[in-house]
Amino acid sequence: MTDETLRGCGYDRPAPRFEERLALVSRGTPMGECLRRYWHPVGLVGDATEVPRRVQALGEDLILFRDRSGRPGLLHPRCAHRGSSLYYGKVDERGIRCCYHGWLFDVEGHCLEQPCEPGGGKSRRVIRQPWYPVAERYGLIFAYLGPADRRPQFPRYSVLEELSPGEWLEADDSSIGGAGPAIIPCNWLQHFENVVDPFHVPILHGSFSGPQFVSQMAPLPQVDFHTTPRGVMSIQRRPAEGGRTFRRQTEAVLPTLRVVPSPRVGSFQSAEAIGWVLPLDDTHFRIYVVGRVKEPGALAKMRSTFGGRQWTELTEAEHQQMPGDYEAQVGQGSITWHSEEHLTGTDRGIALLRRLLRQQVEVVAQGGNPLGVAFSEAEAKVSLEAGNFLD
Ligand code: FES
Ligand SMILES: [Fe+2]
Repeated sequence: MTDETLRGCGYDRPAPRFEERLALVSRGTPMGECLRRYWHPVGLVGDATEVPRRVQALGEDLILFRDRSGRPGLLHPRCAHRGSSLYYGKVDERGIRCCYHGWLFDVEGHCLEQPCEPGGGKSRRVIRQPWYPVAERYGLIFAYLGPADRRPQFPRYSVLEELSPGEWLEADDSSIGGAGPAIIPCNWLQHFENVVDPFHVPILHGSFSGPQFVSQMAPLPQVDFHTTPRGVMSIQRRPAEGGRTFRRQTEAVLPTLRVVPSPRVGSFQSAEAIGWVLPLDDTHFRIYVVGRVKEPGALAKMRSTFGGRQWTELTEAEHQQMPGDYEAQVGQGSITWHSEEHLTGTDRGIALLRRLLRQQVEVVAQGGNPLGVAFSEAEAKVSLEAGNFLD
């Protein structure tokens, strides 16, 4: 017989689960295949140099470098000969040379030299070091990790294409709004969903931890959520001076873009930056941001500070007393247990985003192309509606 006084105790908890088809990103998983139909940032342009650099993307370990002709390359690290790591390779004019027996690979994985073999390796042309196409855009290096016959056009985002006089683009890879380490130890979806969670702003960044943004952001907003041809949008309305309405629009855009106007609300205009959530593996992600700026270092000024200090300068006790996005999202666990959640009406954006993602996973599983991938220059233009506006 059940003892009613013990109902709900921890022992009765069903085994917790997370939704694998949404969370997992490796090759062969449903979401891993869906994400592989899009371009993803894997570094700043300056990260590709003559010194090979380890990078991770979608659960794959990769080597990023730039040959001495200036071409960036992204190769699997295990050398096609006998598996030594190209991390220890040396870059030359035409590619990267493995340290072990000197095989030379170009940025597309062609084997150009096998110095120990007679005649420089007569069958070297059949060798291909696994490689990925890369594109340098907006100050970042993007890679396409999907099937060769599905490589889309590189998208052109209005926020980064339409510059006013005196503006230029700046790229940054520091962290969640600059508040945290560069590599965040939890599942990428926890951050992506946060883009359509405007209700955490007045609580986490307002009443709970003390104002982390400006006063306009403090009131609890009225919010509408809807899906768009590219993702999910939230429209938040807060009362403003003179009986006017402060309308703030944020967008989660597939595959992993956050288009969120500055929470510091400097001026009323369309969003000035795009952030990409790059899943490194199932339990780590990082953020790349590109924004329009008018002064050097302006992107860094958008970062959250805590009583004037950076996140890294806080003590453990201060992290506990003044948590921010990092603590809230990493606090959900390395992959949050979806089976234990209780979504409510204010989580509608999250529900819409998950539904949209499940649909895209299914489309890809059925052999189709997911939302927003374009195969012509005309289709590649993406008009975004995020911004801070005064009505
Ligand atoms: S293992 Fe790379 S050249 Fe032999
Ligand atoms: Fe936040």
